[in-house]
Amino acid sequence: MSSEDYIKFLTTRRSIRKYKKEPVALDQLIKVIDTARFAPSAKNSQPWEFVIVVDPKTKHDLASVYPWRQALRDAPAGIVVLCDETASPMFYMLDCANAVTYLMLAAHAVGLGTVWLGVGEKEKPIIQEIVGAPKHKVPIAIVAIGYPDESPKPRPRKPVDDIVHINRYGNRLTVSS
Ligand SMILES: Cc1cc2nc3c(=O)[nH]c(=O)nc-3n(C[C@H](O)[C@H](O)[C@H](O)COP(=O)(O)O)c2cc1C
Repeated sequence: MSSEDYIKFLTTRRSIRKYKKEPVALDQLIKVIDTARFAPSAKNSQPWEFVIVVDPKTKHDLASVYPWRQALRDAPAGIVVLCDETASPMFYMLDCANAVTYLMLAAHAVGLGTVWLGVGEKEKPIIQEIVGAPKHKVPIAIVAIGYPDESPKPRPRKPVDDIVHINRYGNRLTVSS
């Protein structure tokens, strides 16, 4: 695979919210989690754990926490990403966000679609209760995962010119054509 192919791979990931009914084999789910282990984390703390949810009732309970979880209702599986705040007190959220991104990219590599479902403060204890997680293992994301049944257009991105400065904030580069 050329570097251009890798770049294309990164820029063609999309959030997928519609999935085929087809279940995802457990070994495929393990494979994407296995890859997520290679994400960087502060002091290599690796504060992440993953709860694979395929049980329909548990998935339904998670999806019912808030209405924008429709994607999880439809997906054959969900992965609750738990983060140990005691293992990386300053950076646990960042560490686990890296792992979620790796996981989503690994899924993309094997033809699976994902969407990151955000977890608000009020939802954390409810999700912990549903999956039986201890208090210090904080859910930071639920990733809905399955075979894509849609091909969404890319969401708009800010132009590079708007977000790049050179040496000092405000010194703009004009990089796009
Ligand atoms: C922290 C975070 C929380 C998100 N929460 C939700 C969510 O609750 N529901 C949802 O449908 N998408 C959610 N998303 C997905 C974003 O909407 C999506 O990544 C963004 O619109 C860009 O689209 P793309 O992923 O297809 O490039 C979330 C993404 C992140 C990083």
